[in-house]
Amino acid sequence: MPAGGGSQLTDRCLNSNAFAPGANRDHRRTHVGTHRCAVPSVRGVTAGVVLAQPSNGRVAHRTTVQTESVGFYAERVLPRAVDIALSGKAFAQLRERVAADLEGEVLEVGFGSGRNVPFYPLEVARVLAIDPAVAGRKLAVRRLAASPVPVDFVGLDGEQLPLEGASVDHVLTTWTLCTIPDVRRALAEIHRVLRPGGALHFVEHGLSPEASVARWQDRLTPLQRRVAGGCHLNRPIDTLIADAGLELARLNNFYMRGPKAFGFMFEGVATKV
Ligand SMILES: C[S@@+](CC[C@H](N)C(=O)[O-])C[C@H]1O[C@@H](n2cnc3c(N)ncnc32)[C@H](O)[C@@H]1O
Repeated sequence: MPAGGGSQLTDRCLNSNAFAPGANRDHRRTHVGTHRCAVPSVRGVTAGVVLAQPSNGRVAHRTTVQTESVGFYAERVLPRAVDIALSGKAFAQLRERVAADLEGEVLEVGFGSGRNVPFYPLEVARVLAIDPAVAGRKLAVRRLAASPVPVDFVGLDGEQLPLEGASVDHVLTTWTLCTIPDVRRALAEIHRVLRPGGALHFVEHGLSPEASVARWQDRLTPLQRRVAGGCHLNRPIDTLIADAGLELARLNNFYMRGPKAFGFMFEGVATKV
């Protein structure tokens, strides 16, 4: 969104190639002006970063350096940090539980570093993977090599799924709905591509029903979004899923160990009727 009259959205911004691996750095370099970038680098991280208004070449240069470091953090550091943060026994148990009933053609939105790969049941014919963080899939190489279930990377953005309507049997998301910038749009897309009778299998963190915890979640979310790739602590996951027209067939709520603001979970299955 233009701001301050300095926007210079180039063709690259409007070109889907801007989402191609490696295009992000070039993309950022095309911008010298005050604007909200229409094509995020890693959505939810660089999206919404307001670049400085250049009054001369020096400022424009600083802008490039600043966005390069944001890109390095988002593209290199964050996927590794997330891979480590979401490892361990408690997470593995939840992954196993949420993946247990998957079968047929499965779409995983927010594939990340492939932490769910070891838990795909043999009944899964193929996984179609979506994630804007290409560095994450590099971390998945060993898990993919060991997996009997084939995985195809089909896109970068859960908000725009490159799939036919009613074309997948199940969708899997784990700790991803907190991060997708327009989560309602992503859930509408998930609803669109699911076949009738198919289901979204999810484990996500989000808004606590405890008012005192929810207040902290509201307070901390701006900071969390900045340091954790656009992650919101305060999204009402069950309501968002239901609002998308999916029927909650199973829902478990609980806190994981650690600070409550970060640990209120929604685990379950929501069916397209
Ligand atoms: C906290 S990580 C979870 C990764 C993985 N699902 C797991 O359980 O380890 C959130 C993931 O959502 C991805 N993501 C962010 N925006 C997205 C979008 N618009 N569409 C799909 N995935 C997105 C991030 O790149 C990241 O891999």
